[in-house]
Amino acid sequence: MRIAMIGTGYVGLVTGACFSEFGVDVVCVDKDEEKIRRLKAGEIPIFEPGLDDLVANNVKAGRLSFTTDLAEGMKGCDAVFIAVGTPSRRGDGHADLSYVYAAAAEIADNMDRYTVVVTKSTVPVGTGREVERIIRQRRPDGDFDVCSNPEFLREGAAINDFMRPDRVVIGAGSDRSREVMRQLYRPLFLIETPIVFTELETSEMIKYAANTFLATKITFINEIADLCERVGADVHDVAKGIGLDGRIGRKFLHPGPGYGGSCFPKDTLALVKTAQDYGSPLRIIETVVDVNHRRKRAMAERIVAACGGSVDGKTVALLGLTFKPNTDDMRDSPSLDIVPELIRAGATVRGYDPEGMDEAAKLLPDIKYCQSAYEAMDGADAVAIVTEWNEFRALDINRIKTLLKAPVMIDLRNVYDPQEMRAAGFAYTCIGRGTERTGGAASEAAQ
Ligand code: UDX
Repeated sequence: MRIAMIGTGYVGLVTGACFSEFGVDVVCVDKDEEKIRRLKAGEIPIFEPGLDDLVANNVKAGRLSFTTDLAEGMKGCDAVFIAVGTPSRRGDGHADLSYVYAAAAEIADNMDRYTVVVTKSTVPVGTGREVERIIRQRRPDGDFDVCSNPEFLREGAAINDFMRPDRVVIGAGSDRSREVMRQLYRPLFLIETPIVFTELETSEMIKYAANTFLATKITFINEIADLCERVGADVHDVAKGIGLDGRIGRKFLHPGPGYGGSCFPKDTLALVKTAQDYGSPLRIIETVVDVNHRRKRAMAERIVAACGGSVDGKTVALLGLTFKPNTDDMRDSPSLDIVPELIRAGATVRGYDPEGMDEAAKLLPDIKYCQSAYEAMDGADAVAIVTEWNEFRALDINRIKTLLKAPVMIDLRNVYDPQEMRAAGFAYTCIGRGTERTGGAASEAAQ
């Protein structure tokens, strides 16, 4: 089998490398000459655990290559994957499909045999049909089928998610294209991964429904966490107590500063827009988008409150800047809302992130960047954990106390145990576990 992967962003690169690991010949194509040059030189433009070795091994084995030339990349291909970006369109929140349609036109011009054209990018319902129409218009005699094959990869765990997925979803209208897709995913059939074959539109809808459902679950537990603070309940126990009900499930019930990343914010918004266009509004998702947006902004207020009501002239250390651990991705990260608010309120912000500081520096130039968590905390008035990197889970608590001016910690990821932290003398604020709003050690110590 041989495939071309158009777009060497996060999804394209991970998917291409993983298919080559399955034994498929993969050519990754991108218009960005600098990116292709770097990839050819063995440099991986994103941080994803295990990806550098996976790429290096498969390049060495001759199964994975990179080019800027689509015509060359498509020679002899059984399938072409479209994995280009679909950013939110400025102004209206719809997914911008111009890159997808441009790729479709180029594919049409370069097809030299029966080709399965697969949309891998997250695309609104109806996009697959439009891709089909564009190709048919340019190549009325073209021998091709269009499939939808959404990705469910989580950043930081993408390779494992590809190799051992809960399921694979394939929207394919013909037996011939289904057979090509079955061949590509053969190793997953062997480990009895459920494969859901559907029509194009259904497959496209599954991706959006999955992501918006997960975003809803997170937003639900975040609001329950706020209420827990008021009534004196512990949200972790609530999440466990409800999550053990198999109908609810335990995953994605961890409260925090609001969801971010490259998918949830963009996809929730895009589905809301699609639903409005079709006159079938999704009021729950509209509310999720709004609640999550407000939540991220409210996190700065939480930090200010923990600092005794003002951060003017104070220094706050932020640990973690990326939207989640094990990535350098800053897209829609809560830190992008928190940092400007703190600076507006007069704070100096010292920041540290294990992988995200290069990206963060482009978006948050006013942070004073540090080389370690301890350096960031040195002389600060308070520390806030914004992303739950493993190295922040086992910090030396006594050392923190000697570094901070006063032991004030705002733990937006609930990494530490409230009782232990308060027993250690910290004014400790967390999410949904009896923090400053229910009184107690946190608010008293911050006075
Ligand atoms: C997500 C989907 O999980 C994946 O299937 C899809 O293909 C792409 O989008 P990703 O954005 O990489 O993956 O990260 P994920 O681990 O899902 O986390 C998304 C956001 O939700 C992060 O900001 C994370 O901190 C937050 N989150 C997640 C919570 O706040 N609580 C949780 O319990 C889970």
